[in-house]
Amino acid sequence: LSTTEVDLSPIAEGQIVTVQWRGKPIFISHRTPAEIKSAQDTPLSALPDPQPDSARVKEGKDQWLVVIGICTHLGCVPLGHQGQYNGWFCPCHGSVYDTSGRIRQGPAPLNLELPPYAFTTDTKILIG
Ligand code: FES
Repeated sequence: LSTTEVDLSPIAEGQIVTVQWRGKPIFISHRTPAEIKSAQDTPLSALPDPQPDSARVKEGKDQWLVVIGICTHLGCVPLGHQGQYNGWFCPCHGSVYDTSGRIRQGPAPLNLELPPYAFTTDTKILIG
């Protein structure tokens, strides 16, 4: 399938689910207010691949982070809610991502990539 529709309503706040899109894992994180705040409050100067959190979520949908679950170092699948920034930790070589999926430490050069997606209703997204 070239597109994947996901109903977000069963995903509890604080939960990360993984869905498949074009054979790739997609992480959908229903971020808590604390996770959103820590992503928004991080200065760009602290980021190896500087990108504001607002550029990584849809407007008015700060609670939903949707990223491709493939480490930008050598392609392992990072583990959610782990690592120093409570985002993702890649067990292969220790890259650490924050709650916006941005690289913070380790060998990965870039933030977790964003898939193309859009909200089709208030609680559904279409990826692809
Ligand atoms: Fe993730 Fe190397 S593949 S740190």
